[in-house]
Amino acid sequence: MSQTTLFERAEECIKACKPAEKIKLSYETETAWQEKKLSLDKISAILKFEEPGRPDKPELVPPRELNRRKITTKEGHAALIHSICHIEFNAINLAWDAVYRFQDMPVEFYADWIKVAKEEAFHYELLSQHLNSLGYEYGDFSAHNGLWESALLTAFDPMVRMALVPRVLEARGLDVTPGIVNKLKGIGDQAAIDILAIVHRDEIGHVEIGTRWFRYLCEQRGLNSEKIFKELIDKYMKGTLRGPFDHDARKRAGFTEEELIYLESTNLN
Ligand SMILES: [Fe+2]
Ligand SMILES: [Fe+2]
Repeated sequence: MSQTTLFERAEECIKACKPAEKIKLSYETETAWQEKKLSLDKISAILKFEEPGRPDKPELVPPRELNRRKITTKEGHAALIHSICHIEFNAINLAWDAVYRFQDMPVEFYADWIKVAKEEAFHYELLSQHLNSLGYEYGDFSAHNGLWESALLTAFDPMVRMALVPRVLEARGLDVTPGIVNKLKGIGDQAAIDILAIVHRDEIGHVEIGTRWFRYLCEQRGLNSEKIFKELIDKYMKGTLRGPFDHDARKRAGFTEEELIYLESTNLN
């Protein structure tokens, strides 16, 4: 790793295909940032990554083609851990993409998203190691590409990215974690429950970071963030949101009462 600008380093992290390589680069970049070794010199050509770096497997399929297996089977148990592992792998790319793509933000924005990238790399490590302990590895099951598609959809504007990626997709993780933990309790997988406690704690922080920068960008443009949030959901996510929403976790991540009432009104279930 020879580059000294943050944006070049972030690009390198996105492009790395092998998980071990992506994690190593992510940690090294975070350390270099902490040691103040990276400049914020802009790079002229910002690439649109149709495909971020990822291994040949998992095979990516439309969500409806994903096999649903019972968690009480060995395979179903591993498939559940694999699906969370896949989310974390994508989340590393998403965090670095926020750093890489939006080069006009205050320095604190980069500090926040570098921290997120490091934490996502750590989540991926914990989950992939746990998957290995079950006799499987990342890539053994198929997966969907929804998270990266949302990165492409929101690549044109950091305000839209902050609204729809951390505050919709990552926030969804907050809603579903308690149910997953219950399933894991049912099969006695305490190791996974312990990992998800770390993930859940960190993810509240990621959504809060998204909330904070979303509001910052709205304020900068003289826009009402609650109104814009609704408009963006209506425009890009209509008919796709599912509850139940975890109000307590979302409030801790900065959601307002009005935003939660709005989300409930869109709930399909
Ligand atoms: Fe994560
Ligand atoms: Fe996250």
